[in-house]
Amino acid sequence: MKRRYFLMMMALGALTLTGCPSSNTSAGGDTAAPATGDKPAAAAGDIKIGFVVKDSAEPWFQTEWKFAEEASKKYGFQLIKIEAKDAEGVDSAINNIAAQGAKGLVICTPDTKLGTTIVAKCKEKNIKLLTVDDRLLGPDGKPLTDVPYLGISAPEIGKSVGEAIAEEAKKRGWNLAEVGAAVLTVDEIETCKQRTDGASEALKAAGFPEKNFFLSAWKKPQQMETAVNAANIILTQHPEIKKWVAYSSNDDGVLGFVRATEQKGIAPENVIGIGINGTSGKDDLKKAKTGFHASVLLSARTHGFSTAEAMYNWIKDGKEPAKETYTKGTLIDRTNFVAKLKEEGIE
Ligand code: GLA
Repeated sequence: MKRRYFLMMMALGALTLTGCPSSNTSAGGDTAAPATGDKPAAAAGDIKIGFVVKDSAEPWFQTEWKFAEEASKKYGFQLIKIEAKDAEGVDSAINNIAAQGAKGLVICTPDTKLGTTIVAKCKEKNIKLLTVDDRLLGPDGKPLTDVPYLGISAPEIGKSVGEAIAEEAKKRGWNLAEVGAAVLTVDEIETCKQRTDGASEALKAAGFPEKNFFLSAWKKPQQMETAVNAANIILTQHPEIKKWVAYSSNDDGVLGFVRATEQKGIAPENVIGIGINGTSGKDDLKKAKTGFHASVLLSARTHGFSTAEAMYNWIKDGKEPAKETYTKGTLIDRTNFVAKLKEEGIE
């Protein structure tokens, strides 16, 4: 099946995709057993939907795609998965799906500043647009509120991270005056900034001294290795701090901090890291003891399945999705993660 799609893509001259294996760029994908393209044209007819993500290596996006594939199997439409790492990648992805006859695009953009370009390009190609995870911004830096968007309730989820950290620090009997709060920030993405800001506010409200917050900009979010670098900047500058709490825009940022503390020989008992997503953090929760204490498990099912489903209904029945949808999360730690991941259909 892979080969057939590969040939089809070749025929379309559309293999200009950014750094992504062909199985991930073709309809149905490598994990989808009887993929959509093999189905007889049912009620769904020939509906094709592009699902573009900013990083196909990140477990969050792999899980999102997995659920989008479930929607494609349920309804019989064809899903075209493409990774786009930058503006050029987005441009070629839209050309690609348009050449294949897609009428809809669900996208988590690699750069929110591409907002107006993406909107214009979809309009030109007559493709309906729904955005997920990272909201598109206009030239004035404000969100493009006309484009349907599904994202997480970032301020509330950030707040719950901060509250959970404060609770755990209290449980461990820590003197907050001696604790450093390491924050790996991604302020150029609205949802990411809201998460870390929400957590910082909750920690301040819980009595963390203002002077103990150490911020480091995480340049390439999604990549844990670059988070290790951002974390090392903080750790190197503050050898006097012996106890740390850590948070970021997602699990990968926190995992980067945790790995950096391990490299410096800081004991896991002295680190409380709480992530967001659950999809990367779950592997640390399987280990008996690390500085990665917990995560807020997001609903990858809603972000993947429901967005693809909403796009399908929009194309099929002209039913436009809500302009804004915000999803919730659940705190998972070593005591409950197995059951919660199962409930969410992740493991
Ligand atoms: C952003 C983050 C991802 C994930 C999604 C959830 O895109 O980079 O890791 O948290 O938000 O909406």
